[in-house]
Amino acid sequence: MSNIIIELATAANASECAMVLRISRKHSLPYLPDLHTSEEDVDFFRNRVFTKDTVVVALDRQRKIVGFIAFGEGWVNHLYLLPDFQRLGIGGRLLEKAKQEWPTLRLWTFARNISALRFYEKQGFYAVKHTESAENEEREPDILLRWDR
Ligand SMILES: CC(C)(COP(=O)(O)OP(=O)(O)OC[C@H]1O[C@@H](n2cnc3c(N)ncnc32)[C@H](O)[C@@H]1OP(=O)(O)O)[C@@H](O)C(=O)NCCC(=O)NCCS
Repeated sequence: MSNIIIELATAANASECAMVLRISRKHSLPYLPDLHTSEEDVDFFRNRVFTKDTVVVALDRQRKIVGFIAFGEGWVNHLYLLPDFQRLGIGGRLLEKAKQEWPTLRLWTFARNISALRFYEKQGFYAVKHTESAENEEREPDILLRWDR
């Protein structure tokens, strides 16, 4: 989508990114438990994600955030798009930013998230570990994926 701008986020984008995560998860991963309030999400983004990670956002023409990626130390920690903006190549454009910065990337994805697994596979990631009894807070089996430049 050529009318989508990809740019580095600032701390002022924290609450909007938290909202994108919430909406995207509710739509695409409805089986996940809702463990946190919106306020807790915003706090997490302000004080953890934006202080530790590089965050890159996808903006529409009105500069509304339609998706974002958060990465650091060779890990992709979050990649979420609003439902109407999925499957248009924006996820690939966001991931490209992390690939440019790191020669190796790793990330965890839920085993049930088949569409994300397809996406990452297409992006050159491969599975290195499957968890049986998940240690994440959602208690969902997950898969460690890796990409090498
Ligand atoms: C996963 C996600 C980041 C991918 O970004 P995207 O912009 O939608 O993906 P792209 O358009 O760059 O790539 C599309 C490819 O990914 C795969 N894919 C993405 N969404 C898919 C879906 N809903 N169903 C099946 N395949 C899907 C397909 O291989 C697709 O290729 P195709 O359209 O030619 O079949 C995005 O769909 C999303 O935000 N999903 C919900 C949140 C999520 O699961 N995040 C990942 C957490 S680890």
